[in-house]
Amino acid sequence: MLRRFIAQASLPQRYHRYLITQQHSPNSFRRCSSSSTAATPPSQLPVETSVEPPPEPHFSDDYSSKPSASISVDRSGLNNPIEHSHESLADSELVKHLKSLIKFRGGPISVAEYMEEVLINPKAGFYINRDVFGAEGDFITSPEVSQMFGEMIGVWAMCLWEQMGQPNRVNLVELGPGRGTLMADLLRGASKFEKFTRSVNIHMIEVSPALKKIQKTTLKCNNEDGADENTATTLTGTPVSWHSTLEEVPTGLPTIIIAHEFFDALPVHQFQKASRGWCEKMIDVGEDSKFRVVLSPHPTPATLYLLKRCKWAQNEELTKLEHVEVCPKAIDLTQTIAKRISTDGGGALIIDYGLDSIVSDSLQAIRKHKFVNILDDPGSADLSAYVDFPAIKHSAEEVSEDVCVYGPITQSQFLGNLGINFRVEALLQNCTDEQAESLRTGYWRLVGDGEAPFWEGPDEQTPIGMGSRYLAMAIVNKKQGTPAPFH
Ligand SMILES: C[S@@+](CC[C@H](N)C(=O)[O-])C[C@H]1O[C@@H](n2cnc3c(N)ncnc32)[C@H](O)[C@@H]1O
Repeated sequence: MLRRFIAQASLPQRYHRYLITQQHSPNSFRRCSSSSTAATPPSQLPVETSVEPPPEPHFSDDYSSKPSASISVDRSGLNNPIEHSHESLADSELVKHLKSLIKFRGGPISVAEYMEEVLINPKAGFYINRDVFGAEGDFITSPEVSQMFGEMIGVWAMCLWEQMGQPNRVNLVELGPGRGTLMADLLRGASKFEKFTRSVNIHMIEVSPALKKIQKTTLKCNNEDGADENTATTLTGTPVSWHSTLEEVPTGLPTIIIAHEFFDALPVHQFQKASRGWCEKMIDVGEDSKFRVVLSPHPTPATLYLLKRCKWAQNEELTKLEHVEVCPKAIDLTQTIAKRISTDGGGALIIDYGLDSIVSDSLQAIRKHKFVNILDDPGSADLSAYVDFPAIKHSAEEVSEDVCVYGPITQSQFLGNLGINFRVEALLQNCTDEQAESLRTGYWRLVGDGEAPFWEGPDEQTPIGMGSRYLAMAIVNKKQGTPAPFH
């Protein structure tokens, strides 16, 4: 299957995408900017957000009886919010909304609540009303860098479908499809494998009305009767439907789930070690009417997730940390995925910017291809955090014995072992000089800086790319065996 697919080379019509991205500075990549910046954890970037000290002294409780984790959590005090006006004439709708949330809540909100409002507030969230990708947008993702990315994900999906015994009907779900480019490239690349393409029902999980519209155009969907704006058919007859959550996708069919740069958009809670124990970082409004970060004076509900995450960590890992991020939504979503795969069969592929360890302090904001302060003009910049891959693995294993988790491996290992080298060579056989240059650039952006031995030139000239900073993990029903290329 791999070789057969990779040899069937064709270039799509929308090839100019490369030319647009090439005009960008290296900072155009969403989480992977120039080599020096990309190698630097966001907490060391010059946009660090200062944290106000806690309002009063507190004591700590000791949770050292936990088997592999020993942390103390601040449990003291009642919250006494300071009275101040939150109004400012120049505030955007979203800023006014955030300030009123804080005001009516009677105190600060968690970083996670702030992040969720900033990204997907139904009226003014960052993703809701516009196209944030590409040269005119705020950042660029792998499917927008090269057609080969979606094609290789298609190879992965087809291999899994083969391992599933080539079912006649299969749900192909994409979480957070952006412009729909990955899915369009996947379908175009797989178009010669009619048995596969005929079997798929596509389900797009998307909250943004603006992006849904773009996805319909990218997938060349027609909606002849216009009766339901959440269902359509591609020109080649593949049914597509849109949902807000994975739970809305009908059960009962084997399911293949793709999540590329989705988990990093899920809201994270941030904790900081203080003399009184671990305190949650919260977003408040200062006397000057500006947002500021404060430490919660009392334990917060998310502390339960901190304890859970710490149980999965090694003591040595924990003792070094001054900050920890936890993502309850990632844990919950992973468990929904794992349960679905264990009952319906199939597997999920998660590719994201992240770590194979607990995550410390990674939340970052990007506007117009530059890092900015996370509190600066919320709603106008993307917020994202490193994905905690061990937490995903443990979450899946916790809810089902019928699934197996593979990886994480680096993006360059993943794409390399699936055969991206053969694919680029096949495409290079049949293209103009300009296209060849763009293909090579796209290739190195996807696999550059990776651990796979693709680069044969001098070390100091190793191309910069997303090859090692992006990781791939698969959650697969045990019946399917080990998925490619995690052997
Ligand atoms: C960083 S973009 C990734 C887009 C695409 N996967 C790509 O690689 O180009 C995140 C995507 O997830 C969507 N999204 C973010 N949070 C979401 C949520 N809670 N539920 C559903 N979709 C969400 C955004 O609208 C967007 O389509």
